[in-house]
Amino acid sequence: MLVLPLLFAMSVAAMEAQIPLSTPRAWKIDLSKNWDVLGPFPIHAREQQFISPSYPVNISKPIDFSRTWPSSYADKGRVGWTKTQATTAGDLKVSFPAIRWNDLRATEGWAALQHHAVLHTNLTLHPPHNSDASPVPRLLVQLIQGSYIAIIPESDSPLSSPPEWHAGNIYAMERTLPRAIQLPSPPSATGPTTYHVFVSGDYEIRLFGDAKWPRTPTQSINLTIDVEVPSHSVELEPSQDVVCDFVDGYAFGDAIGLGVRSLARWWTITDAVLATEPEGFRVELLRPTKIAPSQTRIVPIRIIQTKKYSQPAIAMNLTLASDTDAKPVTVSVKLPLQQLPRWTEKTLSAIKGTYFYAQEMPTAFSAFPPSLENIEGRNPQPPILCLHGAGVDIAQSFWIDSLPRQPHSWLVTPSGRTPWGLDWHGPSAKDAWGSVDALVAIIAANAAWHTRKLAPQTPVVLMGHSNGGQGAWYLAARFPDRVLGVVPAAAYIKSQAYVSLLMSRSAHFIDPAARAILESSLTPDDNDLFLSNLADTPVLAVHGGNDDNVPVWHSREIVSVLETWNDDANVTFREDARQLHWYPTVLKNDQVQAFLDAVLQSSSLPRPRSKSFTLTVAVPSESGSLHGWKIERLTVPGRLGRLTVQAFGDNRLRIVTSNVDRFSVLAEMWDVDSLQVDNSLVDFSPQLRGSGVVTFESDGRRAWKTVPQKAFTQVSARVQSFLSTAAPFRLVVLDETSPRDNSLALRIAHDLNAYHRLDAEIILGCESLNQLADDTGNILIIGDASSPFLAKLSWGTPFQVENNRLTLRDSPLEEPGLGILFLHPHPRNTEGQMLFLLSTDASGLERAGRLFPIRTGVTVPDWLITSNRAEQIGAGGVIGAGVWGRDWSWNEAMSWLY
Ligand SMILES: *[C@@H]1O[C@H](CO)[C@@H](O)[C@H](O)[C@H]1NC(C)=O
Ligand SMILES: *[C@@H]1O[C@H](CO)[C@@H](O)[C@H](O)[C@H]1NC(C)=O
Ligand SMILES: *[C@@H]1O[C@H](CO)[C@@H](O)[C@H](O)[C@H]1NC(C)=O
Ligand SMILES: *[C@@H]1O[C@H](CO)[C@@H](O)[C@H](O)[C@H]1NC(C)=O
Ligand SMILES: *[C@@H]1O[C@H](CO)[C@@H](O)[C@H](O)[C@H]1NC(C)=O
Repeated sequence: MLVLPLLFAMSVAAMEAQIPLSTPRAWKIDLSKNWDVLGPFPIHAREQQFISPSYPVNISKPIDFSRTWPSSYADKGRVGWTKTQATTAGDLKVSFPAIRWNDLRATEGWAALQHHAVLHTNLTLHPPHNSDASPVPRLLVQLIQGSYIAIIPESDSPLSSPPEWHAGNIYAMERTLPRAIQLPSPPSATGPTTYHVFVSGDYEIRLFGDAKWPRTPTQSINLTIDVEVPSHSVELEPSQDVVCDFVDGYAFGDAIGLGVRSLARWWTITDAVLATEPEGFRVELLRPTKIAPSQTRIVPIRIIQTKKYSQPAIAMNLTLASDTDAKPVTVSVKLPLQQLPRWTEKTLSAIKGTYFYAQEMPTAFSAFPPSLENIEGRNPQPPILCLHGAGVDIAQSFWIDSLPRQPHSWLVTPSGRTPWGLDWHGPSAKDAWGSVDALVAIIAANAAWHTRKLAPQTPVVLMGHSNGGQGAWYLAARFPDRVLGVVPAAAYIKSQAYVSLLMSRSAHFIDPAARAILESSLTPDDNDLFLSNLADTPVLAVHGGNDDNVPVWHSREIVSVLETWNDDANVTFREDARQLHWYPTVLKNDQVQAFLDAVLQSSSLPRPRSKSFTLTVAVPSESGSLHGWKIERLTVPGRLGRLTVQAFGDNRLRIVTSNVDRFSVLAEMWDVDSLQVDNSLVDFSPQLRGSGVVTFESDGRRAWKTVPQKAFTQVSARVQSFLSTAAPFRLVVLDETSPRDNSLALRIAHDLNAYHRLDAEIILGCESLNQLADDTGNILIIGDASSPFLAKLSWGTPFQVENNRLTLRDSPLEEPGLGILFLHPHPRNTEGQMLFLLSTDASGLERAGRLFPIRTGVTVPDWLITSNRAEQIGAGGVIGAGVWGRDWSWNEAMSWLY
């Protein structure tokens, strides 16, 4: 279902340079319906990023289709190649009915249904009849629910360079554009050319669900491939557009985004104006947007409005300049609008609002107004922040329609970036808070809407279903001082508890000490470990008693852990007998409404319910305060930090810390005379308290002092934190002459947009790095570990360049096959990061590229070095990994080096 059916029009006159996309005499593509299938092999949910996507086959060599391979899933322990057929629409079903799945499931559970398979077919390109076969065409590939795809030449000899793997649209997210893939070798201009197509097919419970007893788990993959001849033009991509609704003629937000794709050349959008400018309404381009050949970006445009605008559409002219043509071109765009009536009790409806996420990324959310106006003289009531389940697109009304309407509270449904996003962590969590703050600002900006105004920095009630239920636990426990109460429904605890990692292949090879360091990158997502932070928060957990998607034991278990922290916790568990994962009354019922009424009525933040409470933190930069207390820095990053506050009757506080190096308190919340932190009695005099936030820093073993307030210094713990950028990413390709490095930058830019709607500008050549003087966005550096450019950098981590060689702790990193990833301080933004993605050869680059943090749950801490052994044994092939210490130093406790 396409959700934003936006029309578009191109001004043909201004675009003479444009060549139509496909003509009858164009290239023809023939994708075979016959597939070879090898599998199944045990794998856990996130090993695909470490292991070769064609494991156990090396597709660089000619394939022996008669060979068999060991697999513990098969009778007698071996599997060979079999055949299957796709439909003409590209649908491919992959299953292995000879496997005794029920026996495997009986002992190993869902973990045994997870499996990996290698899929192979051929595609043939036929040149056009008019014999104009230049320029070389490229492929437009849409791989749905497959993890990776590679296209390689047909040949009897080994490949001269390793295959390029491209991630599929594994979550089958709508509005995901096909991916442009360069052919590995130019096709013949006179006759047909055949290529091999390899797909990594991975059955995951989260994607395909449980194969109901006694059925066989079946992968449902859809592969379609089109051919595109790069022309000089650009294309509008209306499926990527972002636009807000208008209420009574006023924009509900100030952000517009236009999807624009370059077919060839580098294009820069240099201006945006309305085609005809009515009085009191105009638009402006937020910033010139540079688009690489085949890349799509969402052009950020701001609405500036002082008078009503009641038209059904916005017509705009974009000015584009190419790197080769002196003369700019104009593209006209018409963006249909939804005009909503002025609010009365009868006309209220869901409204789409927009804002700029990370300064420049146009982002939509939906909101539903309270049915009644604010009560005169009373504070506005907090909104309810509602997190959707995996695969739910907020542009459709399903989710907001499932929520109970409120008399006095707004309902806010953020997108979380995309229907899957990052499971409400990282950028999805930032988007959740960003949507609430945007709603507050939008209403404040228009006096006509003040009757339903919200307070700035308003606390919220959190609600969510399924992945969003998990997200509600996550956000509440990381930002307890912004949350009045939580209603998590059908929630799972954490990914490793959802489907266990039991059938891991790498686990048979990796040193458990190294595995522990890799798995520390899951700690920040382990919702059960942070429940101490919710010991004082009202919670109503809801779960269907027969849920076959997220088993009900998850809610029972997490509630029991919460009660362990506080016997007296205000937590209620509602198990709806015989209900499945989704039912219309899961959130629309009297008990949920009574809970919301009670929480909203008090409208004040939960106070400590007992004499002692504990704040637990994994990543200080991704965590807020609890009763005013905030952990700012850990002693050993990568381990949990805890702060226990005990109150005594005589105005005394005692604080016990564990792995905390710096913490602060909002002093006005604590009117005490005396404060003991571990072994130190620390001054907490009224003068000190008057300064607002008081910061404490460790001063020797279990000794503390107060210090002036400081900015964060620790912004890492895992590579995934790179995604939480403050502005569009810069992807820097050090060697602009390397097609593979360029391709990797394009692949990452595509994935960032497809999976997270995060914007990236590609920058060629290290010299251009100087142009980034004022940028705050996170910077990715792609290149060779021996690049001379690296020697010119001033290094801020234990990775160094000595005698033109990249070293870690004085050991040179130069053996073939290494893929090296590490976070590094940002040159200008103390809260930003750089990520280096380096390698010693092409195969190392491919391996490092697959570890770029696109999906949740991939265990990559702050730095990691992988080797060619990973192709066969996954994370067992990692030769070093770790978390940086304070200020990016070596962290012996959390490092492992081969
Ligand atoms: C795969 O085969 C190619 C070509 O023979 C070889 O260069 C490469 O090292 C092999 N890869 C692995 C992981 O064995
Ligand atoms: C791929 O092409 C080869 C050579 O033309 C042929 O033998 C093989 O059957 C084809 N495989 C599939 C799956 O179409
Ligand atoms: C597979 O993709 C094709 C092309 O996009 C589409 O026509 C077809 O309906 C898809 N099949 C399924 C099951 O989604
Ligand atoms: C926008 O483009 C259209 C079509 O090219 C043109 O008629 C119109 O004058 C342009 N408007 C502005 C404000 O440039
Ligand atoms: C639990 O929280 C609700 C909402 O704040 C409140 O009305 C209720 O009194 C609390 N229950 C207990 C036992 O404190």
